[in-house]
Amino acid sequence: MKVNGTDIRPIGLDQDGKRVKIIDQRLLPHQLEIVDLYNVDDVIRAIKDMYVRGAPLIGVTGAYGVYLGILNCDQPDHMIDHIENTCDRLIHARPTAVNLKWAVDKVRQTILESTSYNEAVFRAKVKAQEILEFEINNCKQIGQYGAELIQTISRQKQGKPVNILTHCNAGWLACIEYGTATAPIYTAFDMGIPVHVWVDETRPLNQGARLTAWELLQYGVPHTVIVDNTGGHLMQHGMVDMVIVGSDRSTYTGDVANKIGTYLKALAAKDNGIPFYVALPSSTFDWSISDGINEIPIELRDPHEIHYISGIDQDDNVMSVRITPKKTTAVNYAFDVTPARLVTGFITEKGVCKANEHDILRLFPQKK
Ligand code: MRU
Repeated sequence: MKVNGTDIRPIGLDQDGKRVKIIDQRLLPHQLEIVDLYNVDDVIRAIKDMYVRGAPLIGVTGAYGVYLGILNCDQPDHMIDHIENTCDRLIHARPTAVNLKWAVDKVRQTILESTSYNEAVFRAKVKAQEILEFEINNCKQIGQYGAELIQTISRQKQGKPVNILTHCNAGWLACIEYGTATAPIYTAFDMGIPVHVWVDETRPLNQGARLTAWELLQYGVPHTVIVDNTGGHLMQHGMVDMVIVGSDRSTYTGDVANKIGTYLKALAAKDNGIPFYVALPSSTFDWSISDGINEIPIELRDPHEIHYISGIDQDDNVMSVRITPKKTTAVNYAFDVTPARLVTGFITEKGVCKANEHDILRLFPQKK
């Protein structure tokens, strides 16, 4: 995606093949800073502290983490033990998004199949790059399929702008290129379909207000930031035509874990008869579980993220201020689960399907 006219991605391997370069998303939208990751510890810190975030991106970061792990292994004779330990540490960096385990396991498997240390290093690098390209391609396809849904609504509205509400950031920052939830929006916009996006601010870390708004602004897509509790009111007054969100993990039965607050949007959408779509690549499906509410681990993050809010002052100085009383406690659930019955459909790289086992497996028959 372009930032001030320059093509940029949230992650990439440096030309020397020894460093992973990432955008430090904690600093956006006020500072665009590229950070180098040299080893597994750097990668784990970047994932845990959310320099990088978003399910597909943390998957790709984890994949590069395994590559850096094998590259920097100082005892090649013990590379298997070393890599098992590295993979376990990476997988536990963040628990909810299943893409992390999916991607780490793929590179781990490649290493286990290698017959020498040098081959393992080479193949781990190739596999990590492949995963990156796979996610880019998935997002492109999601954009095509999702844009058709937007086009249908646009025709029904006789060309008046289609109002789409989204939560958190499931944009290119979270998914390498195009995004998942945003890909249909960017594609529709490129097709000349008038769209307008309601951007949930997404407390506590404000991924919507900081990141989605910044992305849409770069692309020129009309949008408006709203506080998290505004969606229901807009829906009651006919100001939302559809909701598109991303996912961090979805069951093959159609339950969806996504950023905290997604469930409430789905309830409000259902009550108002508004289509609620989830855009996700196949790497975000967990094919091993059927009950999202009871089986998807929900990350509990540091309450500090609730107590403090950061931004810039009038002189552009970045600052963080406390907003709760000093002795008040807070609890920080990072995700919630929207049950399949509230989801109108999934937009995947293989097409659009209903949120049920039968229809999901129709698109991914090899997972049966
Ligand atoms: O905690 P985050 O920022 O890593 O959460 C991930 C998200 O941005 C979303 O929940 C998103 O909708 C799914 S990731 C494409």
